[in-house]
Amino acid sequence: MNIRVNNTRQQFAETLDRAPAGEPERQYYFLDRLREVVEKKKAEEGFSATFHIETYGCQMNAKDSEKLCGILLKAGFTEVESEHADFVLYNTCTVRENANQKVYGHLGYVHSLKKKHPSMLVGLCGCMMQEPEVVAKIRKDYRFVDLVFGTHNIFKLAELLYDRLMSGHMEVDVWEGTTEIVEDLPAERKYPFKSGVNIMFGCNNFCSYCIVPYVRGRERSREPEEILKEIRRLAADGVVEVMLLGQNVNSYGKTLSTPISFAELLRRVEEIEGIERIRFMTSHPKDLSDELIQVMRQSKKICRHLHLPVQSGSTDILQKMNRRYTKEQYLELAFKIKEAIPDISLTTDIIVGFPGETEEDFEDTLDVVRQVRYDSAFTFIYSKRTGTPAAAMENQVPEAVVKERFDRLLKEVQQISSEVCGRDVHTVQQVLVEEKNSHMDGYVTGRMSNNTLVHFPGGEELIGTLADVYLEESKGFYYMGRREV
Ligand code: SAH
Ligand code: SF4
Ligand code: F3S
Repeated sequence: MNIRVNNTRQQFAETLDRAPAGEPERQYYFLDRLREVVEKKKAEEGFSATFHIETYGCQMNAKDSEKLCGILLKAGFTEVESEHADFVLYNTCTVRENANQKVYGHLGYVHSLKKKHPSMLVGLCGCMMQEPEVVAKIRKDYRFVDLVFGTHNIFKLAELLYDRLMSGHMEVDVWEGTTEIVEDLPAERKYPFKSGVNIMFGCNNFCSYCIVPYVRGRERSREPEEILKEIRRLAADGVVEVMLLGQNVNSYGKTLSTPISFAELLRRVEEIEGIERIRFMTSHPKDLSDELIQVMRQSKKICRHLHLPVQSGSTDILQKMNRRYTKEQYLELAFKIKEAIPDISLTTDIIVGFPGETEEDFEDTLDVVRQVRYDSAFTFIYSKRTGTPAAAMENQVPEAVVKERFDRLLKEVQQISSEVCGRDVHTVQQVLVEEKNSHMDGYVTGRMSNNTLVHFPGGEELIGTLADVYLEESKGFYYMGRREV
C-alpha cells in the first residue's frame, strides 16, 4: 500500500512556501496541516491514527517524549500502550552499548509488524540518532524506517511527519548542534501532579567516557523567567512537584547574558505558590556551591535528596575520567552536605572497569561507598563509546575482572543501602501519593521527600496529594505505613 498522501507536488510546495519562518509559529502551522492529513488518512483502511512512543535513557528523554506525545495528540493521533500502532516512535539512548542493542532488537520486531501493516509508520529519534554511523546503518539496513531525527529538533515533529507523509520517502533530519531553544509547544504530562522542567540542555564537561556532550551538544541554559513562567503554569494546572532537569544543574545560568546561579534559581522557584516539592538532577560535584547547600538547608520545598555521581573513588581514575575532583574533595563535599542537612539522602552513579582501573583503584571506590553510605547507587559496567577519549585508552580491563568487581560493588552497595534506608522507621513523614499499588488492593504508593517509596492503605482519591504517613515497618528499600489523620 502506498502511504503517500494523494496530493500534487505543487500543492505540497505551496504549503511549504506559506509556512511561517519563525518558531514556534511554524510548528503550529504544520500541526494544522498534519491534522488535516491525518483526518484524511483516517478514512483509509487500516489507519486509525494510533501512536506509541518507546522511551529509553534518562529523564531528559522522558521529558522529550512528553513533548513528542503532546504534538501527536494535537495532530489528531491517540496513544496506545503497545507497538501495535499506526505510528511507532523510538526515543533512543546511547549512553551505554546495551541501550543501543535494545533499540535494534525492537526494530526487528516492529519490522515484522510493518510487513503485516504496510501503512504503519516507524520513527527513530533521540541520542543514538546523533551518531552518523547509526544513521548510516539505518539508511542501509533498516530501510523500512520512515522518519529519523535527533535531539536538537524534536520540536519539529509535526513538520517532519507532515513532510514524510507528503513526500513518501524516508525523512532524515539530524542537526549537529543548535543554539536555538524552542519551547511553548504542546506537551502531554505523564503525571498530572508532577513534572520535569528543562532548565538547561547539553553538557560541556566531556567526561572522557561519556557520549552525552557529543549527542546533546553544548550547554545552553534557559532564561530564568521562561523557567519560572513554565512552573507557574504547571502549578496553576495542579502540579505540586517539579524536577529541574539538566546534565549538570550546578553550572546553570553561567552562560546567560545576565548570569544567575542555580541556587538563586531555586530560591525563585521556591516562591511559586502551589509548588510543594522541588527536585533536581543531576549535580556535578565539581560545581556544587556552598550557596546551594545553604539554600537547600533553609528551604521548605527542596527535597531531602541529592544525586551526586562519584563515578570512581580513585583520584587517579577520576583524573583520567576528566571529572575534575579528587577522592578527598568528593568525600569532603559529601560530609559537608551531610553535616549541613543531616536528613539528606545521598545517591550516586558508579562506573566499574574504566580503562586502567587496578584492584587498588577499585578498593578506593569501595572505600568511598563505605564512608559516604549512600541510600542507593546506580552501578554501571564501563561501556566503550566510539569517539570518546576513553575508547582510545590502553589497558581496557578484561571482562571477567570487571564482572567480579561489579558483583562485589553491588553487594556492598545493597548491604549499606538496606541499613541506611530504614532510618526513618517509626516517624511520621510527608508522602506524595503517586499511584494505586499494583500488588495490594486498597493500598497506594508514594514517595517521601528523600525519594524513598512508601506503601500504605488508601484510595485513589489520594493520588497527587501530600499525606502524613506513619512509617510502621522498614522493608529495606521501602516502607509500609499508615496514614496519620
Ligand atoms: N550528567 C550526569 C550523568 C548522565 S549519564 C552526571 O554527570 O552525573 C548517567 C550515568 O551513566 C553517568 O553518571 C555514568 O555513571 C553512566 N555512564 C555514562 N557513560 C558511561 C559509559 N561509557 N559506560 C558506563 N557508564 C556510563
Ligand atoms: Fe556525561 Fe560528564 Fe556531562 Fe555527565 S557531566 S553528561 S557524565 S560528560
Ligand atoms: Fe541516554 Fe541521551 Fe540521556 S544518551 S542517558 S538519553 S542524554
